[in-house]
Amino acid sequence: MIKKCLFPAAGYGTRFLPATKSMPKEMMPVVNKPLIEYGVEEAIQAGMTDMCVVTGRGKHALMDHFDKNYELEHQISGTSKESLLTDIRSLIDTASFTYIRQSEMKGLGHAILTGRPLIGDNPFAVVLADDLCVNTDRGVLAQMKALYNQFRCSIVAVQEVPESETHKYGVISGEMIKDDLFRVEDMVEKPEAGTAPSNLAIIGRYILTPDIFELIEQTEPGKGGEIQITDALLKQAKSGCVLAYKFKGQRFDCGSVEGYIEATNYCYANIYKQPSAATPQKTEQKVLEAEVA
Ligand code: UTP
Repeated sequence: MIKKCLFPAAGYGTRFLPATKSMPKEMMPVVNKPLIEYGVEEAIQAGMTDMCVVTGRGKHALMDHFDKNYELEHQISGTSKESLLTDIRSLIDTASFTYIRQSEMKGLGHAILTGRPLIGDNPFAVVLADDLCVNTDRGVLAQMKALYNQFRCSIVAVQEVPESETHKYGVISGEMIKDDLFRVEDMVEKPEAGTAPSNLAIIGRYILTPDIFELIEQTEPGKGGEIQITDALLKQAKSGCVLAYKFKGQRFDCGSVEGYIEATNYCYANIYKQPSAATPQKTEQKVLEAEVA
């Protein structure tokens, strides 16, 4: 059973400067909730309980958010505003939060390796919180976890992007083994224009088997001088099996201004204004109860 979810959140968020100069990108609110809280909700919905966060300098707000604020609780206790804290209180009660610092930002692969002491020798999920994923039915991580239970290997979430966008992503190619599922044969990080092996781009959701840590350790810095998870995953794909899953749902790139605005508009119209359509805590609790049983 996958219980642990890693949130690499040590990056500088340079595309969103100056907002991210002193505020973690993951704490930027989409309507009234920080980005990382959407990711944690998705992980809980998939039955995960251990949230492991890779932080860096200036990221204290992340830790404070998933902790009790007694002064605030006391201040609003018994008022109409108390209900605004219901969701976050429930998250704090449902999941545990542990943190580790990445002291040098050497890339996503390095951030994942930094999380190893929190993960141990278990398969685990990875959420890049600036990719906000929504689905009316099962969340993306829950879809991926179901596939993991069937295939027992690393899985990356992919979506089709226009050819003009492939240079921003890791791009895979492979053999389709069933609807929306591919066995990865090749993987290129941010391919030059016209050289992408397909239009299937990796987004910020992964399930990784723990042998990935050794493979990252053996990985030299790649594109941009960073240790790329894509390079380690390609080694895993060559020696074993990595799947790419075209998920059901929508993903917003909240690391870019345009994606962030789109996510805000979507969440305002479909979640904030229709709270009954988005009561994740109830369904999450059911998933957890079912798994425990
Ligand atoms: P990004 O490249 O999208 O994030 O990394 P960034 O560096 O924060 O943003 P820009 O490109 O400068 O605007 C993908 C994810 O990996 C994490 C980031 O926090 C983000 O969630 N990351 C990246 C780390 O934790 N450590 C790193 O060294 C690099």
